[in-house]
Amino acid sequence: MSTTATQASPSDSNLSTDPNWWRQAAVYQIYPRSFADSNGDGIGNLKGITAKVPYLKTLGVDAVWLSPFYPSALADGGYDVDDYRNVDPKIGTLEDFDEMAGALHGAGIKLIVDIVPNHSSNRHEWFQEALASPRGSAARDRYIFRDGLGENGELPPSDWDSVFGGPAWERITEPDGTPGQWYMHIFAKEQPDFNWDNPEVREDFLTTLRFWSDRGVDGFRIDVAHALTKNLEGTLPTKADLEARSHGTDGFVDGSHPFWDRDEVHEIYAEWRKVFNEYNPPRTAVAEAWVHADRRARYASPEGLGQAFNFDLLQADFDPTQFRRIITKNLAEAAASGASSTWVFSNHDVVRHATRYGLPAAAEAEGGELMAGKAGKQWLLDGGRQEDVNVELGLRRARAATLLMLALPGSAYLYQGEELGLQEVGSEIPDSARQDPAFFRNKGVDVGRDGCRVPLPWKTGGTSFGFGDGGAHLPQPEWFSKYAVEAQDGVEGSTLELYRAALKLRRRLQTDETLEWLETGNPDVVHFRRPGGWHTVTNFGTGPVALPEGSVVVSSSALEDGKLPGATTAWLVES
Ligand code: GLC
Repeated sequence: MSTTATQASPSDSNLSTDPNWWRQAAVYQIYPRSFADSNGDGIGNLKGITAKVPYLKTLGVDAVWLSPFYPSALADGGYDVDDYRNVDPKIGTLEDFDEMAGALHGAGIKLIVDIVPNHSSNRHEWFQEALASPRGSAARDRYIFRDGLGENGELPPSDWDSVFGGPAWERITEPDGTPGQWYMHIFAKEQPDFNWDNPEVREDFLTTLRFWSDRGVDGFRIDVAHALTKNLEGTLPTKADLEARSHGTDGFVDGSHPFWDRDEVHEIYAEWRKVFNEYNPPRTAVAEAWVHADRRARYASPEGLGQAFNFDLLQADFDPTQFRRIITKNLAEAAASGASSTWVFSNHDVVRHATRYGLPAAAEAEGGELMAGKAGKQWLLDGGRQEDVNVELGLRRARAATLLMLALPGSAYLYQGEELGLQEVGSEIPDSARQDPAFFRNKGVDVGRDGCRVPLPWKTGGTSFGFGDGGAHLPQPEWFSKYAVEAQDGVEGSTLELYRAALKLRRRLQTDETLEWLETGNPDVVHFRRPGGWHTVTNFGTGPVALPEGSVVVSSSALEDGKLPGATTAWLVES
């Protein structure tokens, strides 16, 4: 096995070699093109990230997860990869990558990168080769090509929709100029799906995992981990057939869907696990798998990827009953699988939680009738106006929810900008500036995800609020100013200082992975205890409530006469 320059470097002396470092890590997601721009071209880059390592260190995160930074035409924000073992020249070079990894490691921060194995981009050399090669060729076999239906193959092989809207099949023109076969793409047409029955595809991803592991990458986030293997033999079922067999929005429970969550996918991850374990400490992985909750543990097994996202809190209302149920269930599932749980409220695919919690629908919701995730999408569709959001309430709830989440056993995944309490950008992004394929492919149904991907404000004014010396590739509204790092740094009570304080304490307070619920006698209030006498109390209601015995070490909003106000979380230690 090769050792890595980064692993061996003395700058790594701060880095944990504990093989379990990931189990309770606070992981900060960077969307590289929107984080920091060092050369003024309007696109965030790797050098920009390197320059902000001191910021990340002060924030107190254990690891950074980098969304795709590979060469890409950005048909889907980089999740359309042209070359898995290189850096997009628009955002840097491999040398820049090594420099960034070294700087992060030197600051004691681990590095997780995104792997996109379900599909490449249509510019990937293998796909270009497939287009130039005849039907039935080895080059076509790396992807999913089928003859069309109808007299002349003019109809797609099935009526399936792609996730971003429109058909899941695209017809090609054969090298001789005639209308030809169709290829499958679960996402945009620029993202052709790989054929994971093909040994070359399997081998190539092992090479990619080793390539980045050898460069010192500590772990991987696996994109759409539940879609890789497919059964497309014989006559394909119609989308109506599939809907009829699905358990509502929870999907299939028996692995019989032609492409989502098939059992054979775990054979791939068992092979990957062997590669991860060639390294010391073993490389980690977390699955993005939107599967039925009962099937999630398979992805998180120690023989597989080791950890899986659960998006349950992200989809829940700000509601004590939902929170308690979700937490209890996920901790039990994680314990049964041998993994630790994951928690997340915001990422590059959803409306930021400081906005979701302040939407009119969410503000009025009682008893958990409404999924905050859906409310966010609807708000965007309805025009996404800031004035319709109760920004203050949204932020207050977001701070309370996050402080609760940071006290839970398991890994906390944070999305860039949430530590600033940043709001989603809605209608301030004109249609002409939108980038997300979901907007273009699903007009009138989905506005897309650009609003959470707007470049971060570092300064209260100046060009692109300190993001870079040029513009920003998505427009930043004027109100970004008050969320800037500069406006919050060192300011007591700011969201940034709250995250810093909580992340620092979390390191000190976190011991084993158990949690004990304590009864509060008030349905609006949840209270749990972690080992070492560490208590977390969240008041989901509106009026102030008395706190239990103990010293308050941090609270998400100021206490009122020693009481915990509504929409507030406090951490206490037993005295
Ligand atoms: C994942 C990513 C999302 C991307 C999709 C297709 O869901 O999080 O951003 O569009 O996969 O790769």
